This record gives sequence, structure tokens and C-alpha cells, in this order.
Amino acid sequence: MCADFSIFVNFLVTGCRIMGVDSQMLGTTGQYVVPLVLPIILPCVLLLLVRRLWYEYNVMSRDPASDLPLPDGSMGWPVIGETIGFGLQGSQFYEKKFRQHGRLFKTHLFGRPTVRVRGADNIRKILHGENDIVKSYWPATTQLLIGPESLTQSQGVHHVKLRKHVMTAFSHTALSGYISLIHPIMIKTIHDWCQVPGGVAGYPECRLLTFMVAGKVLCGFDCSKEETTKLIDYFEEIVHCFFSLPINLPGSGLNRGLKARDYIRQRIMANITLKETDDTQDALRILMDQKNEAEETPSHENIAANAIDLLVAGYASTASAACSVIIQLYKNRQILTKVRQELKEHGMDVSGSQLTLLKINELKYVTSVVKEVLRMSPPIGAAFRKALRTFELDGKQIPAGWTLLYSIRETIDFADVFTDKAKFDPDRFASERREDKTGDRYNFCIFGGGSRSCIGKAFAVLLLRMLVIELARTCNWELLEPDTLKIAHLPTPHPVDGMPVRFTKLEDVDHNANSVVFNCESE
Ligand code: HEM
Repeated sequence: MCADFSIFVNFLVTGCRIMGVDSQMLGTTGQYVVPLVLPIILPCVLLLLVRRLWYEYNVMSRDPASDLPLPDGSMGWPVIGETIGFGLQGSQFYEKKFRQHGRLFKTHLFGRPTVRVRGADNIRKILHGENDIVKSYWPATTQLLIGPESLTQSQGVHHVKLRKHVMTAFSHTALSGYISLIHPIMIKTIHDWCQVPGGVAGYPECRLLTFMVAGKVLCGFDCSKEETTKLIDYFEEIVHCFFSLPINLPGSGLNRGLKARDYIRQRIMANITLKETDDTQDALRILMDQKNEAEETPSHENIAANAIDLLVAGYASTASAACSVIIQLYKNRQILTKVRQELKEHGMDVSGSQLTLLKINELKYVTSVVKEVLRMSPPIGAAFRKALRTFELDGKQIPAGWTLLYSIRETIDFADVFTDKAKFDPDRFASERREDKTGDRYNFCIFGGGSRSCIGKAFAVLLLRMLVIELARTCNWELLEPDTLKIAHLPTPHPVDGMPVRFTKLEDVDHNANSVVFNCESE
């Protein structure tokens, strides 16, 4: 017993020394350890031991058939892994780890061993390995909320067929038709912004504008501002509950998410019924008219599920990019001037004048501005996959069953093909430079790639180009608190304070006003 105790004390003393407690403080025989340090040291040593065992337990899930080592990195604390650190530090968590470990590292997030990876060649391998080495992966609650019949949640052959069907809603003809649905909403919204002399909350307004546009085109909503705000609340409740536990009890995240989802679904089902007497060519109409592979018209439930899916996938990311348009064109007045020059050269500088896809496509500089906004603030930072079998990345093994997060933001941030990266420089996309097409195209992987690439890309880019055009030819704007503007990156980049902005119609602008010095911090 006594011997056991002295071994135990020695164990604690060793533990203290490992943790940097000096020997004078401990005493040579550890006589101070028991009364003074024991209550503090014992839990610490046990915690370290448990943490080590947890690490070993996770590392044991490496594939013994592969000689390759696991990526570097830590697995955090039992069960929670590094989820809390990630929650507290946000995107800085990843940036720090990438600087520490290079292009990939292991961690433990949301209850699963995970590898986060950056680098164009690594991303290429993952995106082109869909259904072979990886498959698209969503947490269980997300799957339950969005439903297996939707595009993002479907897998394999079903996904391929469904994708072909949904693609019809984003054809050239479909997009051309959407312009007449988007444009009046955009004109009215910008006009309303200009009517508020004290300024508006820029980020919430961008969300409202994007929801009104996407809701109208994708789901047939045609609501007042108040009703749209209510729909947004329901909609955001669904998204907030994505990562909650998959337990359907009263008050649980899943339960609240399902209620919100059912409300939105009922509203879309009502819009589908209205379609019997309305032939507006929105996405609902196109999906209803289109037969699937089996030459059947999809059920209304199925169409509603896919409309919700499209809105979930597209709304927050596009709203974030719309807000970045306002920030970047305010910070870079000379770029706004060049946009106006281009509009003038093409006879498109009159506020609210008609837009067509053909005319918009002629505006190369506007397109470059949108690309540069997306490069500076990628709306989607990363996407999930699950390893179907063990494979190699950068000389390390990715074990079967582990989660992979491919990093869009860090891949773009670290890509050498972009010169003077911190500068907002749309000309990098001009035909003489084409930095996005230099080297591996996955250096600029804003919309993913392969069979899971963004299906709404053309729609999102169209909406953003229309916003640049309509803002540039209608008004000037001023961020009211530019020095304190902080950008948080999760879930999508957004100003922490909502971003107060004052819009002024061009005809009312005081052309002698001094430009404001801008200073933007990023967190
Ligand atoms: C600037 C705005 C947008 C960005 C940056 C963006 C980005 C992305 C990315 C990176 C992916 C691939 C995710 C993965 O690899 O798992 C994706 C997929 C997807 N996006 Fe977007 N997106 C945007 C707007 C939209 C819009 C407006 C819609 C709908 C109209 C949309 C619908 C989808 C869908 C349905 C998928 C899943 C496709 C599939 O699984 O086959 N996105 N998006």
C-alpha cells in the first residue's frame, strides 16, 4: 500500500515536472505534493491521460493496411474533440492549423475524426473522386431537415438523374427569363434604400433583397417586406438547426427545424397550386413542366423539397456576396468609376433601364468585379465529404469513414497564381492576365467542382452582376461606421454590426463631397 502510494506520488511529481513545475517547489521527495499540489495536479494529470488515451483511440482507427502516416494534428478532448476551439475561434482556428501543419491536418469536429485540406491538386483529387474515394456528406439532422429526395442529400445514380432534372431550371433560356423577375425587385429595393436619409442596415437588407429575389425565382414567393421577413425567420430556423442532435423531442433543434421546414413547405405547396392559373416562367414552373428520366412528372412534394433545397443552398451565400459587393465598391471608388465607364460605353448607364442576358454578358469588367468580390470573400469556406475508402493525400493516409473538409477559402488565400493578393484588382481576371485560369483551375474553386459543383452558379453570378450594374448606375453609398466594421467568416462572411450604409441617388449626390478614408478589420 505504502509502496503503491510512493509510486503514485512519484507519478504525480513526474507529471508536475512534465508540466514545468520546478523542483524547489516540489521538494526532493515530493513532500509538498500531497497537501498542496495534489488537488490541483491530480485532476490535471488525469485529464492529460484521458486526452492521450482519446488521441490513441482515434489514431487506432487509422487503416493498418496502409503504410502511410495519418496527417499531423490533434484530436482535442474526448467526444467534443476540438469543436469548442473551432466554435470560439472560427476561421482563425483553421488558419492557425494550416500555418502549423501545412496543407492538411487532422482534428476531431462534430463528433467525428476529420481531415481539413487545402491546395488545388488535393481539391481536384477529392472533387473528381466523388462516389469512388469520397461521397458528399451532411450531418444526420441536416439530412432529416432537407429530406433524402432533395438534390444535395441524394447520392449515386439518383443524384445524377435529379441533377439533370434540376439543371433545366438554370439553362440559358431559364436565366434569360429570370431577369424580368429579378430586375423590378432590385430597382425597388435600391430606390427604397435611397429614401432613408439616416441609412439602412446593409447586411440585413442584402439578406432581404436576396431572399426576395431567390424566393421569387426559385419558390414562387411574391410577398411584402414584412411577410418576407417572417419567411426568413422560419428559413433561418431550419439552417440554425442543421448541426443539432438528431433527436426529435419537443423543443429540440430537430423538432424546431422540422416545424419551420413544414411551414415553408406548406407555403411552397400553395405556390405550386397557384401555378395552375399562372404561367410565370420561374424555377417551380420549369421543374413542374419537365419530365424526369422515367418520363414522369415529379410529385409536388418532390418539387417543393427541391425548391427548399435550392433556397437553403443559395440564399445565405449569395446574400454574403451581395454585402461584399457593397463593401468592396465603397472601399475601391476607382473601380466603381471604371464600372460606370463600362456601362456608359455600352449605353447601359441609365438607372433602371432594361437588362437582357446578352447585354449583361457584354460587360466583361462587371463580371471581373464580381469574380474579384468572390475571391476576396469566398461565401462558402469549405464543404464536407466522407472517405469511402482509405486513400492518399500529400503522402498521408485518409482512413475510410473519416470526414474530409475541403477548404475553399484557404486554397484561394494560399494560391500563388494570384498576384498582390490583398489588392482588390478585378483586372486580374481580364483576358490578358486570367489569373484564375493560370495553373490548376481549382486554385479558384469558389463554386466547388465535379459532379457536386454549384448548380446555382450562373444564377448567383447573374444576380450579383445585376446588383453591381443597378447600384453603380443608380446611387452612391457610404458606410457609416467604416472604422469599426468587422467581418466574421462563419457561417458565411458577414459584418458583425449589420453594417449601417447610407445610399444617395446619383442625381442628389453632392459631387464636391470628400471621399472617406476606409479601414476594415477582419476577425
Ligand atoms: C455566391 C453564391 C454561391 C456560392 C459561393 C456557392 C458555392 C457552392 C459550392 C462551393 C458548392 C459545392 C459544395 C460541395 O462541394 O459539396 C455548391 C453546391 C450547390 N449549390 Fe451553390 N453557391 C452559391 C449560390 C447558389 C445558389 C444561388 C443556388 C441555388 C439557386 C445554389 C445551389 C447549390 C446546390 C443545389 C448545390 C449542391 C449541388 C449538388 O449536390 O449536386 N448555390 N455551391
